[in-house]
Amino acid sequence: MIEAEPYELGMAYYFRRSVLLSCLVTRQVKFLQPQKLAFKNSNPQFSLSRSYINSTFHSSPPNTLSEESTLSSNLNKNLGKIGTGFAKRLPTAIFANLVVAGVVCLVSVDLLYAGYRNRRNERLLNETVEKGTRPEVDISDDELVPRPKIVERLAKIFQPYKNQSFYHVVCGEHGTGKTTLTRIASNEVGQVKDKGIQGGMGVIYVDIPANFNELGEAFGKAINFAFEEQISFTGQWMRKILGEINDKSKISEWERAMRAFKRASAVYKAKHGKPPVIVYDNVSRLVHNNPEILDILQDDAKDNADDRKYIAVFVSSEGSVPRRMESRSAWSRAKKPVMEIGDLSKEESMKYLTEKREINVVDAKKIYELVGGRIVDLKTVADDFLAKQPFEVIKQSILGEVEKKFNNAQLLRKQLHHEVGKKAIRALLDSKELGFTTFMEFFDNYEEAGKVLETNIFAYHPEKNTVTFQSQSIECYIREKADIFIK
Ligand SMILES: Nc1ncnc2c1ncn2[C@@H]1O[C@H](COP(=O)(O)OP(=O)(O)OP(=O)(O)O)[C@@H](O)[C@H]1O
Ligand SMILES: [Mg+2]
Repeated sequence: MIEAEPYELGMAYYFRRSVLLSCLVTRQVKFLQPQKLAFKNSNPQFSLSRSYINSTFHSSPPNTLSEESTLSSNLNKNLGKIGTGFAKRLPTAIFANLVVAGVVCLVSVDLLYAGYRNRRNERLLNETVEKGTRPEVDISDDELVPRPKIVERLAKIFQPYKNQSFYHVVCGEHGTGKTTLTRIASNEVGQVKDKGIQGGMGVIYVDIPANFNELGEAFGKAINFAFEEQISFTGQWMRKILGEINDKSKISEWERAMRAFKRASAVYKAKHGKPPVIVYDNVSRLVHNNPEILDILQDDAKDNADDRKYIAVFVSSEGSVPRRMESRSAWSRAKKPVMEIGDLSKEESMKYLTEKREINVVDAKKIYELVGGRIVDLKTVADDFLAKQPFEVIKQSILGEVEKKFNNAQLLRKQLHHEVGKKAIRALLDSKELGFTTFMEFFDNYEEAGKVLETNIFAYHPEKNTVTFQSQSIECYIREKADIFIK
């Protein structure tokens, strides 16, 4: 059912009033009509004096002619005045009647058309959830390193069973390929090429935008939702009038889209016997400036998993997202352990550099030692290398960027966290991976440790509850600057 908004109720009230008013005016005019014809088509004095004589004085005629004529002329005079008044008022009444009838017609047509548009939008929405968003994958096959195991695992997540009562969190550092793989999986899930069955049914993909103001648009795009819903011209007009009063009940576009998705989810579940899936990609964009929206989405994910209505999948690039989500009661319905998408293996990285980018094995090895298997870095360095930049120049540029990260983290010599940070760094150089609490204990307090962990030097892995360096290039920088961090 489409929900009635307050201004629509106001409109219904206005509509009833208009129709009633129109009926009243119509009756009034009907009552006036015989007289109108009499005034218009004959001499008013004559016809009225005749009727007067016939009806009032027929049984008792007047004594004298003069009396009769005086009485008659007075009567005619008075009735004449009334007649002229009616005649003067008549065009106004007809005009008013026409205007009201016209307005009622327009409002009715407008409301019927808006109703038709609403039903059409609702149908389109149901169709979109049915066939899925099927987001574009911006990478060609000749550049893509296939990662079938990860795609398979994601596809499993995107195919919930009837009574599934948990939501999912997928993590990974920036640039490990989460968006690419999530989009591939959400297109391919359930696909049976031989039988011509399209993939991606029931999977809605929402790309959380960098600009929060575009969140509504992003939700709308994902589910093909038209925000004109319920807004007839009459509705818009009424909303302007009642806007002030209804301010409190205003809901944002993304919330409206979310409500629409939930309606379509019920339709989908009734038809297919399983809940649809909604994927929130790049959800870390919410955690810094709009964490309360992340909380709302998480709470809603929990409630709807409980009710088996839809299954949410949060895809995040920052450890702060799972850490925030873990600290809330809604975490009880998250599937554990969370899935993590990491770097390419050495073999995959070499394959990418040598086969996809056609770089010789010796240079490919040097590139891998510098940036490891982080696909976004491999791609950038390969681009620069193929554009004939000398390897040494590329290396200095990468290490320069890393130094900025150390500076932001206050980990350089004479900076705030240098001494404690150094201890954690040395321990990580030895063991490659530290337990979360072991890492935290290097610092004077958890607040300080939390701050350093937020920076892009270290990475938190919720799946194993461990901490590592954020990337190979970080480790490479530390080894290059052994005098600062190791000696
Ligand atoms: N399997 C792959 N093969 C080749 N290139 C890839 C692969 N996966 C990702 N890429 C490329 O690496 C870059 C980063 O990928 P993507 O945006 O998917 O990473 P991400 O983990 O979502 O990043 P972020 O955390 O910043 O959102 C893109 O240019 C993408 O085309
Ligand atoms: Mg991404």
